[in-house]
Order: sequence, then C-alpha cells, then structure tokens
Amino acid sequence: MEGRIAFLPGDGVGPEVLAEARRVLEAIGEAYGHRFEIIEGAMGAGAIESTGESLPEPTRELVSQVDAVLLGAVGFATQPTDPTVTDPAKGLLDLRKLLGNYANIRPVAVSDAILDRSPFRAEHIRGVDLVVVRELLGGIYYGLPRGLDHGIAHNTEVYTEEEVRRISKTAFEIARERRKKVVSIDKSNVLESSVLWRRVATDVAREYADVEFSSMLVDNCAMQLIANPRQFDVILTNNIFGDILSDEASVLAGSLGMLPSASIGGTVGLYEPVHGTAPDIAGKGIANPIGAILSVAMMLELTFKLSAEATAIRAGVDRALAEGCRTADLRSDGNGQATSTSEMGEFILGSLAASKAS
Ligand code: NAI
Ligand code: MG
Repeated sequence: MEGRIAFLPGDGVGPEVLAEARRVLEAIGEAYGHRFEIIEGAMGAGAIESTGESLPEPTRELVSQVDAVLLGAVGFATQPTDPTVTDPAKGLLDLRKLLGNYANIRPVAVSDAILDRSPFRAEHIRGVDLVVVRELLGGIYYGLPRGLDHGIAHNTEVYTEEEVRRISKTAFEIARERRKKVVSIDKSNVLESSVLWRRVATDVAREYADVEFSSMLVDNCAMQLIANPRQFDVILTNNIFGDILSDEASVLAGSLGMLPSASIGGTVGLYEPVHGTAPDIAGKGIANPIGAILSVAMMLELTFKLSAEATAIRAGVDRALAEGCRTADLRSDGNGQATSTSEMGEFILGSLAASKAS
C-alpha cells in the first residue's frame, strides 16, 4: 500500500526519538512492500522562532493533505520570561482541534522485562494492560467563558450529550477488541457535567451488552490505579481527568519514555509519544525512543490497518528489552553502559529483520 505521513519532529528530544521512529517505519515499508512518503513540517518552539507561530500555515496545509501525522514533542528549552510569547503547547491544542481528533488513546502495558524499573513490586504490576480513552476536544480545557483578572479566575467545564456519546462509543469499540471491560470516570457527586457524563456513558453501555460496564468516581480511580491496577481494561474519561490519570498510570510502565499515544476520530490520525521535550536530557542522544516507535505501531494499526506490521514492531521492542537494552531512564542498578537512543533504534530494527525472516 501507499501512505503519506506528515513528520513533525518539534523540539528537544522530539527530533531525536522521531529519527528512530522514522527508521523503523522505513524498515517496515521495505520489509512488507509499502511505500510511505514522509514529509517534514515545522512545529513548536523552533517554528515560533522562524515564523512567529507554533503551527505555521504551511504545516496546517501539510496536515490536511496526508493520511497520518507523526509528532515528536513541542516546548521551549527554557521558559521565556516575557509572558506574552505564545507557548508551543498552543500549537498542539490547535492541531488536535484542526484535525478534529476527539479521542486520545493511551495504552499502558507493563513489559515483563522491565518490572524491576517500577517503584512497585513486580508481583503487584505484572500483567498490567490498560488503555486510557480520553476525550480531547471538550471540557474545561476549551470551555468558554474563561479568564483571569483582578485576582479572580474562572474556567468552564462544558460537555454536550453528543460529545460524551461519541467518546463513549470509542471506548466500547476498543473494549470489544480487548478484555471487554469499561470503567467510566466522573465526579457526578459534585459536577453537573459529570452527571451528564455518567448518564450518557450508562446509556451507550446498553448498546454493548457484551462489554462489562461500571462508573467510578475520579478520586477513587486515582487510588485504585495504584492499589489494584490490574482491575482496569478500558478507562473512559473526560479531558482533564484523562490528562491527570494517564500520567499517573504511566508510572506503572516504568518510564514516561515508554508510552505511545494516538489521537483519532477526525480526518487524520495524530500519533505521538506521551512525553514532552525533556529539556534536561535533550541533545545528549540518551532519550528513550520506545514511546515514539510504539506510536508508529499505533499509526500502522489504526490509520493504515496494518496489524501484522504493528505486531512486528511491538515484538521488536519486547525483544530489545528482553535482551537487556536499557536507555538511561530504564536502568535500575546504575551499573554498566546504558543504551543510547540510536542504539535502541538499531536493535529494534535488527529484531524486525529477524522476525520477518523467521
Ligand atoms: P517531559 O515529558 O518533557 O519530561 C518529564 C521527565 O521525563 C523528565 O525528567 C525527562 O527527562 C523524562 N523523559 C521524558 N521523555 C523521555 C524519554 N523519551 N526518555 C527518557 N526520559 C524522558 O515533561 P516536562 O519536563 O514537564 O516538560 C518539558 C517540556 O515539554 C515543556 O515545555 C512542556 O510544555 C513540554 N511538553 C510537551 C508535550 C507534547 O509536546 N506533547 C507533552 C508534555 C510536555
Ligand atoms: Mg499531560
């Protein structure tokens, strides 16, 4: 098959991890006979420097002409003191909105090979395999009115029935391909928006009788994720609760650098590692590229429907970890040599070739 992909490396470790993701994508194209056209675009702090905008017009145009977008991360190396400077994050919110991607999918799977890297005991988290399905275009991050003046600030949480219905359906469809269990998160004892959320999610659940459904208050969920993480399969949440709970859940996987994400539902899927620009380690060639590489796997599966190819990438990652490849964020003992970003990419590439041959 043929595919066109917008490639937006962004800032900090973004270009470093995306270079490895690109090599993996190209190797998959070669091994399986697909032609991926990869077109680079500017976004983030670098783009602000050269054009004044985090998401410049040529990049907006580019993303409307491709099948998928692969993004690194965006952010200033050091926060500017001038508060009127546009934050690169604004470009990311604009991009999600532009593409209409209302569903943010964040799988958190704990690999056996790095159980020792978690602050949790191995037997507590072995086999954790959950996915956070977060509503991405509504709620308090976008709601109007909002403002800050004279010592009073306000934001507005707004959800329509339709917005809750469509993200709920996404969660149930995903659950059907997994262990068939959805937990919907809300704060319906306090918030009207959550009363609506619970009512609509419960209503959608009736269309999916084969999927086990329950609702949970968000504060309880924050505790349950730590106390008993294996109970979760699909976690359905609004924008802000999902933002917070997915960062919490990432600790289970050993490192933020491990986690991929997909933002879908609109015209063009957006795939990016969960982490940011990691200014503390940028430019050193030591960032973990696995979150970026697994984001390529999600792109192949969700946009291009190439599940064998996605499985090959995941197997390559598992093999690299099983053979002891550890970027600095994954080293538990401080002994020996850590794997560099490009060595990790190299190893995963080698595994792809091996799995294709066998
Ligand atoms: P961050 O995710 O960049 O870093 C948090 C911690 O995780 C740091 O210690 C970092 O070294 C480590 N880390 C992150 N990615 C890693 C990787 N691939 N390998 C190894 N270690 C890794 O979050 P932080 O520090 O809060 O934000 C830094 C900048 O990134 C800010 O400007 C922020 O706005 C931006 N950001 C951008 C995001 C995006 O583009 N999607 C998401 C989150 C933050
Ligand atoms: Mg976040």
